[in-house]
Amino acid sequence: MRKAFLISFTIVLFLNCKKAPIVPTGLVTQKAMVVSARVEASKIGSDILKQGGNAFDAMIATEMALAVAYPFAGNLGGGGFMVYRKADGTTGAIDYREKAPLSAHADMYLDSTGNVIPEMSTVGATAVGVPGTVAGVFEVHKKFGTLPFETILKPVIALAERGVVVTEKQDSRLESYREIILKVNGDSLAFPLVCKAGDTIKYDALANTLKRIAKNGRDGFYKGETATKLAAFIQRKGGFVTVEDLAKYEAKWRIPIAFNYKDLKIISMSPPSSGGFTINQIFKMMEPYDVASFGHNSEKTVQLFTEASRRAYADRNYYLGDPDFVTIPLDELLSDSYLEDRMKSFSWNKATKSADVSHGNVEIVESMETTHYSIVDSEGNAISATTTINGGYGSKLYSNELGFFLNNEMDDFSAKPGVPNMFGLVGAEANSIAPEKRMLSSMTPTIIEKNGELYMVVGTPGGSTIITAVAQTILNVYEFNMSMQEAVNAPRFHHQWLPDAVIFEPEGFPLELKENLKTKGYLINEERTPIIGKVDAIRVLPDGSLEGGADKRGDDTAVGF
Ligand code: DON
Repeated sequence: MRKAFLISFTIVLFLNCKKAPIVPTGLVTQKAMVVSARVEASKIGSDILKQGGNAFDAMIATEMALAVAYPFAGNLGGGGFMVYRKADGTTGAIDYREKAPLSAHADMYLDSTGNVIPEMSTVGATAVGVPGTVAGVFEVHKKFGTLPFETILKPVIALAERGVVVTEKQDSRLESYREIILKVNGDSLAFPLVCKAGDTIKYDALANTLKRIAKNGRDGFYKGETATKLAAFIQRKGGFVTVEDLAKYEAKWRIPIAFNYKDLKIISMSPPSSGGFTINQIFKMMEPYDVASFGHNSEKTVQLFTEASRRAYADRNYYLGDPDFVTIPLDELLSDSYLEDRMKSFSWNKATKSADVSHGNVEIVESMETTHYSIVDSEGNAISATTTINGGYGSKLYSNELGFFLNNEMDDFSAKPGVPNMFGLVGAEANSIAPEKRMLSSMTPTIIEKNGELYMVVGTPGGSTIITAVAQTILNVYEFNMSMQEAVNAPRFHHQWLPDAVIFEPEGFPLELKENLKTKGYLINEERTPIIGKVDAIRVLPDGSLEGGADKRGDDTAVGF
């Protein structure tokens, strides 16, 4: 009798014990770690930490090193967001998102009949928003930096002068962009388009721009020689950014979105990024369910996640925009009762149709390409930063003199309500274009606490799929008991309300799963099986050491000590 009780007690204990210790499969270090898209950038960031710099110094070094080693997305000509959590538990965020130029207006990408002019917001100088990255790193340095700026920039400048080795993945990616980059820039282009894996590329013009920044601070970019050359170049190519736009640019401190999911506290980017808002809605709609018991990427998990995403993206697209320009009813849209109500139409038997979802009704009270890096320092300060020039090589416009690509971030605005942008996102009035307004983003740099302690740092590129990729990585660790590296490797899927289709990565989703979903009315886009996100993350292990999750989909690498 006693034996039978003991056996059943053990079984119950085992079944409830979904949080059995996870064996790490990524790089494990004892004190500090940087995970980014390139080993050179992770190493420079990690070396700054070794030299005694904190996570913020390492952020500046990594951000600038990515501008050199990863021109596909790393940038001086773009913008981004960073969320931080200091060792003492205080949190915050900086918004260094690009802005619309002063001359911008709602109809700037429409022809005389009111139709969107193809490529005007995506390719070439007309697509360029006012860059924010350099202002962002200086603002971070002013508030939290401990090492002199010149010291932080020194290894970055040395990297640009010494050169960066081209990887296989970089080589094949560049191949598909060659033609369009040449079309935008013409034959005089000084960026090395014809290079093979193993070649070393030096970036002398970029090194000179970085030296001016090291010497003159943010004015080394936003005023003087760099600003004059940059504005003249963009305008010569038909764009709108002026010296006045550059001089006026300011990065802004924001209060991140923070919410609880079961016993986690998730801290993520607030508007003008939609990332934190949208994962907040998705997680809260999923919270009532015992997700772990459904199993990773099982039919039930895919259904529940898809239905939560469908509803969250519908609200995202309608309500969100730059909070300096539009009133966003965040409290209402994130309240438990509202989200409970939104999920009332969810059924396990039948897919909801996006056409039947639209945005929820709440009262408004009047009043492709990106890169992510995660850092934890030896004090326990954590930063999560996502930075972008939007498309791969941004607008493709490259300044020979200054040595960097310019963003095509203007496409993240809604050029015309209801007309999808290059990520298929359909925007509304809240994200219409106005002078000095920031375009809505999906970037989701995120930090997670468990029991009041740092638990995970996570983020990814991937346009509209950023939000779902970040959410699934968190669920993989927390609900499905994966190591950080396994969670990053695991196959991902995506739904964004419109178009009404689930997309799956090419590997890891059995035919049977897709067939069952189709029977329930899910629309599956089988032509489009892209890779979804390229996540770089860090998890704090129970003994306080760190496990990196560096996405094998790219050249991403964890470095630490
Ligand atoms: O801010 C955004 O949401 C987009 N500009 C991000 C672009 C992106 O992630 C491209 N990468 N695949």
